[in-house]
Amino acid sequence: MARRKKIYEGKAKVLYEGPEPGTIVQYFKDDATAFNAEKKDVIEGKGVLNNRLSEYFMTGLGNVGVPTHFLKRLNMREQLVRSCEIIPLEVIVRNYAAGSMSKRLGIAEGTQLPRPIVEYCYKDDSLGDPLVTEEHIAAFGWASQQDMDDIIALALRVNDYLSGLMYGVGIRLVDFKIEIGRVFDGDFQRLVVADEISPDSCRLWDIESGQKLDKDVFRQDLGSLTDAYTEVARRLGVLPKQSHQPTKPTLIN
Ligand code: TMP
Ligand code: ASP
Repeated sequence: MARRKKIYEGKAKVLYEGPEPGTIVQYFKDDATAFNAEKKDVIEGKGVLNNRLSEYFMTGLGNVGVPTHFLKRLNMREQLVRSCEIIPLEVIVRNYAAGSMSKRLGIAEGTQLPRPIVEYCYKDDSLGDPLVTEEHIAAFGWASQQDMDDIIALALRVNDYLSGLMYGVGIRLVDFKIEIGRVFDGDFQRLVVADEISPDSCRLWDIESGQKLDKDVFRQDLGSLTDAYTEVARRLGVLPKQSHQPTKPTLIN
């Protein structure tokens, strides 16, 4: 069997050359990292859950007209995506104060923000993904003004879609991070939601109890990360409703 070509290995995923030009296979690992990989562990089943959840969110976004890189899920851990040039920004949308914003501005975690706030971090692990402004983005040429208008519109559409979806299953979308890719069609480029959308890249709190159902469970040692992600998947119907198994997720095909 021919070995396939690895294009890139990140902290949570590996990218391989896809079967056709312009495609990439995205493999979800079980590795969990936090605080720029200062904290690390392998969480059995996390990759399988994130592959399923990201498929679910990306497909849903596509269905409401938000362009994404997602093409199809291939198996338990892999999905086929369109190859794109990732804009070197983490685009964060916040509905409630939490995490680094609470720390930076001294706003209590859980405070509802007057409106969704979009922030950008420059994607560079050696610098710890620092917060940047639109001035930096324009001055250093990471994205044009037109790109920024499109990125903000995409980020807010993703926020509306995900907030509503989550609210429907009793979960508050506190904040999330997305990455944006450029896809080239001949002389034209368009921007798509890329990378992944999963509880690794969102803050999800149970509306009733406030229980955290996202990667903060790992960051803050709050219990089983797989149980938290399985609960999100079960509520969304990505897992069969009856079969909540605390440690080993059973996934429907
Ligand atoms: P923050 O409050 O730590 O800045 O995180 C904001 C959101 O971005 C939160 O939903 C978690 C997500 N996030 C990532 O997806 N990757 C990261 O490296 C960091 C720091 C945050
Ligand atoms: N993804 C980042 C890391 O590993 C940080 C985080 O999600 O907290 O290091």
